[in-house]
Amino acid sequence: MNSKLVRIAKDTNFYLNKFLNKQNNSELISAMKYGLFPGGKKIRSKILIDIGSLLSIEYKTLIAIGAAVECIHAYSLIHDDLPCMDNDKIRRGKPSTHIKFGESTAVLAGNSLLTMAFEILTNPALKVSEKIKINLIQKLSECSGHLGIAGGQYLDLSYEKKKVSKKKIIDMEIKKTGKLFSFCCVAPAIIKKKNLKEIKFFENIGSDIGLLFQIADDLIDFKGNSKIAGKKTGKDQKKGKATLISLLGYGNAIKYCNKIISDINNDLKKYGSNSKNIKETLDYILNRNK
Ligand code: IPE
Ligand code: IPE
Ligand code: MG
Ligand code: MG
Ligand code: MG
Repeated sequence: MNSKLVRIAKDTNFYLNKFLNKQNNSELISAMKYGLFPGGKKIRSKILIDIGSLLSIEYKTLIAIGAAVECIHAYSLIHDDLPCMDNDKIRRGKPSTHIKFGESTAVLAGNSLLTMAFEILTNPALKVSEKIKINLIQKLSECSGHLGIAGGQYLDLSYEKKKVSKKKIIDMEIKKTGKLFSFCCVAPAIIKKKNLKEIKFFENIGSDIGLLFQIADDLIDFKGNSKIAGKKTGKDQKKGKATLISLLGYGNAIKYCNKIISDINNDLKKYGSNSKNIKETLDYILNRNK
């Protein structure tokens, strides 16, 4: 599993580096690169590749789409660490972007990474039809804005120090994290021009994987080691974040994760042994320590 992730990370970073080096230079580019590289686990690209290979999509196409997703993810982390949000000084084992470059530069570098994602999807090197590109852009916009990451981040912050129901916590986690995973699962189905029912099927699997990923991130915050995680741990409790751990307890949160995994595996049964990569990724998501 780890060697597969390392290869995906290498190929994604290679793509992003090439793309950035073709752009004209700007004052913001070093802050953008700082937020992007050397980068994190590239788990979203791995999900894209797992689902994409189920639907026989070319690896090169998936890496380009994964690069766009990584830009949006990096933007969301830069903003998530700002003093007006989680106020975190360490990210991926180094000072957060706003610590290194200042707040205004971090905001603008984040904005620029967000828009660069859409530029990547319009790149002629991405060999899919223009109609498919428009559909991908439409879905990625939806997953990033007020119904996705931004909306979820709003809820995350507004729930601090409040007693919030399980349903609301799940809705918030699906928005802030699940929706981008949802895009990763549905992008291959969009490329294959699947019907609405199948689009919905992949979207739902993606939301569940993202929810699982966020609960596992909350578990790392609760019990993990900050040196290994590359970010401060134990902060959710201090900030009074509403999580399934704060509501149900650690053991029940793990039980909930196992239930999500078995539900997804059930849904993917129809793909037989082809779904073994995704199965392996789900176990990694729950058992990782960073
Ligand atoms: C961290 O995401 C933020 C969440 C959405 C939970 P990752 O754990 O994927 O971060 P990197 O990219 O590996 O650093
Ligand atoms: C972040 O969730 C979700 C985003 C969309 C950025 P967290 O706030 O829990 O992520 P970490 O723990 O800081 O990486
Ligand atoms: Mg946050
Ligand atoms: Mg945070
Ligand atoms: Mg966290």
